[in-house]
Amino acid sequence: MTRKSTQWALILGVSSGFGAAAARELSRNGYNILGVHLDRQATMPAVKQLIAEIESNGRIAEFYNMNAADEHKRHAALDNFVDSYHQEGRAEIKVLMHSLAFGTLRPLVGRNESEMIKKAQLEMTIDVMANSLIYWTQDTVRRGLLGRGSRIFAMTSDGANLNLPFYGAVSAEKAALESYVRQLAIELGPRGITINALLAGVTDTPALSKIPGARNMLYAAVAKNPFNRATTPEDVAVAIMALMREGTEFINGNTIGVDGGESKISFVGQKSPYQYADLNLLDESSWDPTDVS
Ligand SMILES: NC(=O)c1ccc[n+]([C@@H]2O[C@H](COP(=O)([O-])OP(=O)(O)OC[C@H]3O[C@@H](n4cnc5c(N)ncnc54)[C@H](O)[C@@H]3O)[C@@H](O)[C@H]2O)c1
Repeated sequence: MTRKSTQWALILGVSSGFGAAAARELSRNGYNILGVHLDRQATMPAVKQLIAEIESNGRIAEFYNMNAADEHKRHAALDNFVDSYHQEGRAEIKVLMHSLAFGTLRPLVGRNESEMIKKAQLEMTIDVMANSLIYWTQDTVRRGLLGRGSRIFAMTSDGANLNLPFYGAVSAEKAALESYVRQLAIELGPRGITINALLAGVTDTPALSKIPGARNMLYAAVAKNPFNRATTPEDVAVAIMALMREGTEFINGNTIGVDGGESKISFVGQKSPYQYADLNLLDESSWDPTDVS
């Protein structure tokens, strides 16, 4: 075995979107993939295709189709991984990526009782999409699978700080996730493990398509984005590889935008001051701030 083949990436939400793109990029760069996903029969062909791609890169794809929030299944998957690959302390999880999309998109109060989000839905969203980051981190640290040089990435969105219709539960879990990242950075730093949240821009994935008004969100994102396009899962995969470079461990405890700057722009079309120049707004003599025509 080459030294590189002992390096693993554990990807929660491996079968689609950001997780799948990261699995492709990391396997191309020498990482075996320990993947967790939740798929029914209809989407299994895509999962098999991804496994084949990882294997064609000469890497192992060890996949578990299970609920990542199920405690017993989590222990069973990690124990199985230890038995199969870590017996002599060889397998190192160098990347732990949290990219689970499993939330309830409903109003918190809504127009009537039937629209109102239920307690179980709110708690499940926060458990799967935020709390599970803690449990997977605890259980990999516990087993000695994460160590010096390991990096954790958790996927967040600007919905952590802004409001979107139907996004209340997911917004809350994103805020919690970013808070967990800050807290874990303090605790994991002395172990040589870093953790950051990656804030992706609006990206065309199955998870996005479930948000009411997703098409309009995409149009607005492209209109705002300084790069005139939406974020892709590959943008995030490339960012992860960049953050894997040796010597980058001081990038820790942050929420890092991987969105082309989209989340910093609050007005559609406001891409450069020159657009104001076109409108003569930079010419003070002609600038009447009260004129909104
Ligand atoms: N798409 C966007 O615009 C966007 C933007 C910023 C952040 N994000 C965040 O990125 C993350 C991933 O989103 P995506 O767009 O790649 O979604 P996606 O639907 O493409 O992929 C979600 C993945 O999670 C897996 N999954 C879902 N529930 C699971 C569970 N209970 N147990 C195990 N696996 C489960 C699915 O099988 C799939 O592999 C989410 O946290 C999402 O909020 C998405």
